[in-house]
Amino acid sequence: MQSRELDQFEQTVAADHRVEPRDWMPDGYRATLVRQIAQHAHSEIIGMQPEGNWISRAPSLRRKAILLAKVQDEAGHGLYLYAAAETLGADRAELTEKLIAGRQKYSSIFNYPTLTYADVGVIGWLVDGAAICNQVPLCRTSYGPYARAMIRVCKEESFHQRQGYELLMTMMSGTEQQRAMVQESVDRWWWPSLMMFGPPDAESSNTEQSMLWRIKRHTNDELRQRFVDMSVPQAAKLGVTLPDPHLVWNAERGHHDFGEIDWTEFWQVVKGDGPCNAQRVEHRRKAHEDGAWVREAATAYARKKEQAA
Ligand code: 3HC
Repeated sequence: MQSRELDQFEQTVAADHRVEPRDWMPDGYRATLVRQIAQHAHSEIIGMQPEGNWISRAPSLRRKAILLAKVQDEAGHGLYLYAAAETLGADRAELTEKLIAGRQKYSSIFNYPTLTYADVGVIGWLVDGAAICNQVPLCRTSYGPYARAMIRVCKEESFHQRQGYELLMTMMSGTEQQRAMVQESVDRWWWPSLMMFGPPDAESSNTEQSMLWRIKRHTNDELRQRFVDMSVPQAAKLGVTLPDPHLVWNAERGHHDFGEIDWTEFWQVVKGDGPCNAQRVEHRRKAHEDGAWVREAATAYARKKEQAA
């Protein structure tokens, strides 16, 4: 006999209403949300590193200001998401320790190097574009605090994507060298951007249950296809070629067919053997340690205020 709480939970999800922090929820639902939200937050924080690499080398004050604003936004997204994880009883310090110890993941995409300034534009266009495809449906995820955090995140992601695309449009109307720099960057970032959506549905250990709980509203392959279909006309408008000879419109399907993703590379990067994994985690560990004094001071101040009250 199913419990009354489970009945209530299932009715809430089936009616597309929001599960809130004080509601009863299955342990598995809570654990899945902590896992996904924490890894989402880690991705935002680690994601500051690749582009942060170009802040001091932006070609103009305008470009520097835009990039600064974007990187600061990512920090804010991370904080919203850690706050959402805390409503599930997760401890932010513990989540950071798990990230640094390699016991929690972050998005594979941030383990690739930003070798030229064109990468700043291509990350905005493709990586933030993929993030928009993946995050807009999360505005309708069944867990209230996560869905609400996504609304503001998605508004800011649109700015991220647009600033990247505008940067590339400028470079593509520039010199031959600038156009070649953009194309070389697209060649490096296209396939890792498709990998952001996760493994194929058939190999996704979490998708089925996450769809039943309406944590996920679409599968990995559905969102990947949506991203490909969105990117092809944008690439044409930009005047770049996407590095996939099998990319072709399939009128029967009403979608673009595309080539096979290198899943060996994907799992290598997810398992820690990507081009920048060690550097990204080491940088995060050092920043966490260098910031210990701030946390200690804030805790001491809060304790003093408590004692004075
Ligand atoms: N990078 C690293 N790990 C990945 C991954 C990726 N691109 N895709 C999947 N994985 C991991 C999963 O975490 C899971 O491992 P776990 O069980 O230990 O957590 C395993 O591979 C199997 O994948 P599943 O498809 O079964 O996992 P999910 O159901 O969690 O789906 C996901 C993966 C689509 C990334 C989903 O977690 C999700 O939608 N997360 C929220 C969005 C998010 O995290 N986006 C990351 C980028 S954030 C960003 O781009 C910021 C922007 O400002 C640039």
